Amino acid sequence: MNEITLRVNGTPHKVAVDDTTVLLDALRQRIGITSTREGCGVGACGACTVLADGTSVSSCLASAVRYDGVPLTTADGLAEDDPVVSSFVDSDAMQCGYCIPGFVLMTKELLAENPTPSDEEIADHLEGNICRCATYPEIIKAVRLAADRTAP
Ligand code: FES
Ligand code: FES
Repeated sequence: MNEITLRVNGTPHKVAVDDTTVLLDALRQRIGITSTREGCGVGACGACTVLADGTSVSSCLASAVRYDGVPLTTADGLAEDDPVVSSFVDSDAMQCGYCIPGFVLMTKELLAENPTPSDEEIADHLEGNICRCATYPEIIKAVRLAADRTAP
């Protein structure tokens, strides 16, 4: 076992992990972060996405020890009036909502890199995320709205 510090949404958490502990389990089971969801468990759905220093990571595949001290963002760390969060709400982009934290964080990453993405760039960036309720049209609308709200 190694003791590492996971810095989640600005708060440090000391957790004991072994070399095989994935970041998803450290967040959910050791810290109680439930907005990071387990979907496929094999890197194919995006439900478990977190941002590590602003870059998206599939936490179901990531070794927790690699993220010792790295600033992590999970969807519950975003403010209710965050423009991406409010855009997803205002666009009715969720049915069951299971996939939405992953889409929200991918959108945060996209708009930080590219504040005015084209529809094709939005689709490309989100292609690794799956919504089993198939609210894709509303999700794309939410990303467009978020881009409008955050445009410089
Ligand atoms: S649970 Fe990690 S990509 Fe699906
Ligand atoms: S809203 Fe249900 S899986 Fe996306």
